[in-house]
Amino acid sequence: MKKYALVLAAGKGTRMRTEMPKCAFPILGKPMVEYIVENLEKTGFDEIVTIVGHKKEVLMDILKDRVTYAVQTEQLGTGHAALSASKALEGKEGITFILPGDMPLMEYPVMDKIIRAHNEMGNDLTVVTMKMDYPKGYGRIVRDEYGTVTKIVEDNDCTEYQKAIKEVNSSVYVVNNIALYEALHKIKRNERKGEFYLTDIVEIMHQNHKVNTFIVRNPLITMGINDLYSVSVAEKHLRDLINKTHMLNGVAIVNPETVTIGHDVTIDEGVWIYPNTTIVGESHIKSGAHVGPNTEIINSIIDEEAEVRHSLVIDSKVGAKTTVGPFAHLRGHADIGPNNRIGNFVEVKNSTTGEGTKAAHLSYIGDSQVGKRVNFGCGSITVNYDGVTKHKTTIGDDVFIGCNVNMVAPLNIAKNVFIAAGSTVTKDVPEGALAIARNQQINKADYYKHLVKPKPKEDK
Ligand code: UD1
Ligand code: CA
Repeated sequence: MKKYALVLAAGKGTRMRTEMPKCAFPILGKPMVEYIVENLEKTGFDEIVTIVGHKKEVLMDILKDRVTYAVQTEQLGTGHAALSASKALEGKEGITFILPGDMPLMEYPVMDKIIRAHNEMGNDLTVVTMKMDYPKGYGRIVRDEYGTVTKIVEDNDCTEYQKAIKEVNSSVYVVNNIALYEALHKIKRNERKGEFYLTDIVEIMHQNHKVNTFIVRNPLITMGINDLYSVSVAEKHLRDLINKTHMLNGVAIVNPETVTIGHDVTIDEGVWIYPNTTIVGESHIKSGAHVGPNTEIINSIIDEEAEVRHSLVIDSKVGAKTTVGPFAHLRGHADIGPNNRIGNFVEVKNSTTGEGTKAAHLSYIGDSQVGKRVNFGCGSITVNYDGVTKHKTTIGDDVFIGCNVNMVAPLNIAKNVFIAAGSTVTKDVPEGALAIARNQQINKADYYKHLVKPKPKEDK
């Protein structure tokens, strides 16, 4: 039997109050609809049809050719959305798994279970429901005196009695595809909202088809994202799950509620992560490293036993046993060697450093290739930009750069060089030299006496 999936993602998401189409909104950095499609792919369908409409290009750019698209030009409700896929699905034998694009926490083992239950019970329509202590906003599941589900009533259309029903519609359905399209054509416009409700297929089908429910035990799984508060609830849940997995794998996380780790992050056993730390993108934190507190790592590699505290690392690499921070900034493919020290208010951009190099305070190292055991004195910087072009600086091994040195690029500093503090170096420095590039000091004798007039004597 053929298995189709239908994702409803054409809505605007008015309650989100954001410009972005709702189903594209990121949850822990990944668009909601991508979670759905990933899980559908793992479950395995003959075809995944996604209904797009409002700002459809944004969604199509996310999902590319992973799905087939059907366009709902006017957002006239969920029933109308499902009908918009008739070109792709109408009249085909098989079952259709319908779900909204705003349900990022739905996982493939649950999808699988729902479909198996539908087949085992021999249903024509299975409505996935959940029980909520605060059902506000959800469609209520109405049953007759025998417990058979007869219809779904939207929150705003509920009577006081129906409002008290705690079993709600998740918006996930498994349905016989032929019967689905027969029912969809029969849906009438809801008078209050002027929309065609997909939920009406329950009332239509229950008269001459087998309609049943599947109750999901954990309502978080089927939670719909309708506003920015629910985004935070979903993110908290995902964050907890990800952090838990890492902790069970031997990663120590201090105060994990304040730690955010992205989906594509790898963390080895024996790593410590401290409060207020975010690690996202394709990052890898290797064994024995300490990251945080107050640190952001994006798309970066932190090698064994390195330490990054109160700092920002983007698209960069920190070598083994190197310490970074507090308040350091590594970016643009900074590749810091092992046993380095990158200290307070040091920025490194698009540069490499060899083993044992140190820039302990207030330095800028940009577009540079730095050797081993180089010492950057406090305030020393590479002057890589002339207002038009960026230039390269090369510094050999065992170079000692005094405080407040400007190295004006393009510049080559050979190995075993000393640069006197306060120098502005504009010419290459040969191996073994001491470069001094500053004015001679002049001491003007007895200057204080000339400048400071003696106070008049007081009359006593
Ligand atoms: C829907 C259900 C409600 C259920 C709730 C669960 C209906 C009428 N109501 O309400 O019973 O309890 O989900 O979360 O179905 N969409 C379109 N085209 C449209 C309108 C919506 O593609 O014209 C898409 C949206 O992008 C969204 C999904 O359908 O992904 C659900 O729409 P939404 O407006 O969030 O429905 P709810 O009001 O939450
Ligand atoms: Ca919703």
